Amino acid sequence: MTVQTLKFYDLPTRDIDMTSEVLSGLSQANKQIAPKYFYDEIGSQLFTEITRQPEYYPTRTEIGLLRSLNEDLVTAIGRNVVLIEYGSGSSEKIRVLLENLRPSVYAPIDISREYLAKSVERLRDDYHWLNVEATCIDYSQDFDLPIKTKGRRVGFFPGSSIGNFDPDQAVKFLKRVRGHVGSDGGLLIGVDLKKNHDVLNSAYNDRAGITGRFNLNILAHLNTELAGNFELVKFRHEAGYNAQKGCVEMFLVSEVAQEVEIAGQVISFQAGEKIHTENSFKYSSDDFIEMAVGAGFSQHHFWTDERCWFGLFYLYSA
Ligand code: AVI
Repeated sequence: MTVQTLKFYDLPTRDIDMTSEVLSGLSQANKQIAPKYFYDEIGSQLFTEITRQPEYYPTRTEIGLLRSLNEDLVTAIGRNVVLIEYGSGSSEKIRVLLENLRPSVYAPIDISREYLAKSVERLRDDYHWLNVEATCIDYSQDFDLPIKTKGRRVGFFPGSSIGNFDPDQAVKFLKRVRGHVGSDGGLLIGVDLKKNHDVLNSAYNDRAGITGRFNLNILAHLNTELAGNFELVKFRHEAGYNAQKGCVEMFLVSEVAQEVEIAGQVISFQAGEKIHTENSFKYSSDDFIEMAVGAGFSQHHFWTDERCWFGLFYLYSA
């Protein structure tokens, strides 16, 4: 019988002070709140609900691709690799690959200790042969991977989360992954592609209003964490594709002139003033490859769905 191994590394996250970060973002001429503050417990649940909305195509398109390409992916990636997932969350997508890929170790990385511990537990129950080396850290910062298992390393970064970085941050992230996987490794990455603007606008303005609730929940999160008194009904969700920047931008718009207190400081809003909450960049396959090459990756495989809405790239680091 094979014995499963489990290692859990709890790395200290660079102490980013939420109070000063939020206050500084809200004090700028163009107010902003970092998108990482979407993901409290309710925000994470709302994001899961977004992925089930008929207008939000990325998740189901990517999962369809992963399923249909399973054999090709195994051929490109190879078996027995150390498989590192960045921002593993509930580790659902990796399940599509695990049985066929049979990695020597699955190494999920996530900022939420609880989420990580729970999903690792579920995976170990479902895959009795699976060895796990989990790391709790904010993967958007620089860090050394603590993984001990030797072998070829392959990164997995699905969901087009790369799109939530600005392009220069995205290159930095890809370079970091390149450093983690070394010169004989690779990266399997999901990227949302440029497409008809109506499709994009609908995806971020679903009819059921879940994306709106997700966006507004960032204010509720700040109310809880920083003793704020944002009244959610006095703000509305706005999202739209900015063709010049190449991203969907999300804002919260103040419906009225108002003052809000947060962390002991008063923030004034004019009627119609916006808080920027997220960018979601969309790439052409050529633009993305150029960026990946700039980050040190070389050859690649590119797969897409029949509508060419979502791209899966396997990048070699050689
Ligand atoms: C997590 N990320 C890839 C999502 C996106 O599409 O940019 C977050 C999201 N924001 C609104 N809807 C989904």
